[in-house]
Amino acid sequence: MQAAVTPPTTYGARGDRKIAFVMVGLPARGKTFIARKVARYLSWSGHRTRVFNVGAYRRERLGSQHRHSFFDPDNEEGNRARLEVAEMALEDMLRWMRDGTSQALPGRGLHQGEGGEVGIYDATDSTRERRETVRRQCVAAGHQVVFIESICDDPAIIDANIRDTKLRSPDYAGVPAEEAIEDFRLRIAHYERAYETVRDDEGSYIKIKDVGRTVIAHRIEGYLPARLVFFLVNFHIQPRSIWLTRHGESEHNVEGRIGGDTPLSPLGVGYADALGRHLRERFAPEAMPAVWTSTLKRTLETARAIGQPHRPWRALDEIDAGVCDGMTYAEIAAQMPDEYAGRGKDKFRYRYPRGESYQDVIGRLEPVIFELERERAPVLIIGHQAVLRALYTYVMDQPPEACPRISIPLHTLIELTPTAYGCEERRIELPPTPGDLEGFGQG
Ligand code: SIN
Repeated sequence: MQAAVTPPTTYGARGDRKIAFVMVGLPARGKTFIARKVARYLSWSGHRTRVFNVGAYRRERLGSQHRHSFFDPDNEEGNRARLEVAEMALEDMLRWMRDGTSQALPGRGLHQGEGGEVGIYDATDSTRERRETVRRQCVAAGHQVVFIESICDDPAIIDANIRDTKLRSPDYAGVPAEEAIEDFRLRIAHYERAYETVRDDEGSYIKIKDVGRTVIAHRIEGYLPARLVFFLVNFHIQPRSIWLTRHGESEHNVEGRIGGDTPLSPLGVGYADALGRHLRERFAPEAMPAVWTSTLKRTLETARAIGQPHRPWRALDEIDAGVCDGMTYAEIAAQMPDEYAGRGKDKFRYRYPRGESYQDVIGRLEPVIFELERERAPVLIIGHQAVLRALYTYVMDQPPEACPRISIPLHTLIELTPTAYGCEERRIELPPTPGDLEGFGQG
């Protein structure tokens, strides 16, 4: 991957402004994939973010199943209709950024009065004139504008994109695959006639070439856009699974105590063996997933049974329970009733005295997420309940506030496989039998 970065004039100077990311690129260049990925990352990091996809507004307003001629720049009626829905989507985004409501796609807004922070305008925006109109409207609303242009000339990537996403689009419901592909190629050809790449004098931009092989950042100002460049430099589209599992049962689990750094119980050792066996049965030694653990005994002991190198991360250590570390919930309720009640009221934001909240855990997991995006091999993370809940919400694109309610039981392997616009989940229970401590680690 190459990266060329033009230094910003004023990093952070406008960090308080809301941001409109404006997608640019020909059809089938992965714009929606990138827009959704960016939205998932920013939402998970606590920024109210939403994608406004012009194609969805077109289908909502004008119905689906538009053939290529609708997108021909010489089709005046088509141009008028397309401009109308593009304007509608933009107005809706600006409305949502102002007060959190959305007219055209009701039921998906924020609470009344709470404006969005980051709007992602997902359209082709393929001409300089169109981008200037979009930019002016966003700037007039007080927002910083960053174009994200996806450029791709690799026929294999374009072809895979058409087959993976466009064939499933309502635009081609009931249309035979080859006919749909031919029509979509003609649609692309219409856009190619008018397409102009983003130039340096148009303002801030991030250009992504061949879905992440090269990233160019130009006049990027502010903390959030700069972080996003780093995120985009790391990402790739190679499909691979991510496995999550808690460590085997620990001695503290047996006693119902939170935190601590106790070793595995005999049952936990049994799970470590069962996990190692399952992986060895499924994968040849050279195809084994990369194994990441925390720095705590119970994950390291679980990983040892797999019999291959593992990478311990401090960032994967369990939520720090502060002064409650090593206590049972009953003890916390009896000795610190206010803390117990406070946690019950808002488990996501509640911070243990001298410890962490779920929100804090998300903050410290950012380097893990960047590395997860960068890694092309399948990854098995042997972690802890709170940390895995946080990672699960990221991979499954769920609101971070959902963390405390996600079920991550012991002795279960969770397999997550990203698809074009989502992620498939499979849970494999691996019931342990009490392990033989003498033989532990040999398997
Ligand atoms: C669409 O209608 O599918 C996209 C329109 C555009 O952004 O050009």
